[in-house]
Amino acid sequence: SGIRRDHRALVDSTNAAALAEARKGWRAPLWVTADRQEVGRGRQGRRWVSEPGNLYASLLLIDPAPPHALPQLGLVAAVALARAIEAAGPLSEPVGLKWPNDAIVAGKKLSGMLLEAEVVDDHTTATVIGIGVNVVSAPEGLAYPTASTSALGGVADPEVLFAALDVTLADALDEWARGEGFADIRRHWLERAVGLGGPLKVRLGDDMITGIFRDLDTNGHLILEAEDGTLSTIAAGDVFFPDW
Ligand code: BTN
Repeated sequence: SGIRRDHRALVDSTNAAALAEARKGWRAPLWVTADRQEVGRGRQGRRWVSEPGNLYASLLLIDPAPPHALPQLGLVAAVALARAIEAAGPLSEPVGLKWPNDAIVAGKKLSGMLLEAEVVDDHTTATVIGIGVNVVSAPEGLAYPTASTSALGGVADPEVLFAALDVTLADALDEWARGEGFADIRRHWLERAVGLGGPLKVRLGDDMITGIFRDLDTNGHLILEAEDGTLSTIAAGDVFFPDW
C-alpha cells in the first residue's frame, strides 16, 4: 500500500506503540507490527494474550474521521480484515463478521480489533486500528470459542496475512472515502454478518440483553429488536451468539 511499517520483535502493545509515535510528532499513516506483545490490549480493558506466530498489527491514522464516524471506521476495517484472511488462504467457509469487527468462522472467533483515539495536539487526533488475528494458535478458556486461521485450513504465516491486510485495508479506506462511502461498506459488512435475523446477546456494562439482530444503521450501530417489537440502537457493547 505504500504505508510505512515499523516492525518490532517485542512491544507492550502495538496500539500503545503506534499512539506513542503520534505523540512524538509522527503525522502520517503508520503500521506498527510485532512478533509478540507483553500487554496486548483487548476490548473493555481486557488483555489480549499474544503468543508468537499470530498477527499483531496497528494502523495509525491522523484525523481519519470526525468522532461520530469512528464506528464506521471499525466496520471498514472489519470488511478489509475478512477480505485479507480469505485472500491470504482459503478457509473451509467464507469469513463472517460479528458486530462490530470480529472475524468468525465455523462459529469461532478468529480475531479481535480495538480502535483507540487520542488527541495529540490542539488540531490533531490520532486514531489507531489494532488488529490481532489467531494465525497459528488461539487462546482457550475464554467466554467464547476461538480458532486459528491455520487450523481451519487458511493462512499459517502472519507475514502473508499482513501483506494481504496492508492492501485490503488501504483499498477499503479508499472505498469509504469516495463514492457511496459508508453505504457500500455497510452493504459489504451485512453480506458477511453472522446471525442476521436471529437472536444475539449483548452485554452493556453489567446488563445482558437479548434481541433479534435486525440491521446496522447508517452510522454502523447495531439494531436489535426486543420481544415486544421495540427496536433499539446499540453504539457499543459486547456481542455473543446464543450458543456460546
Ligand atoms: C478484542 O478484545 O477482541 C480486541 C483485541 C485486539 C487485539 C489487538 S492485537 C494488536 C493490537 N494491539 C493491542 O494491544 N491490541 C490490538
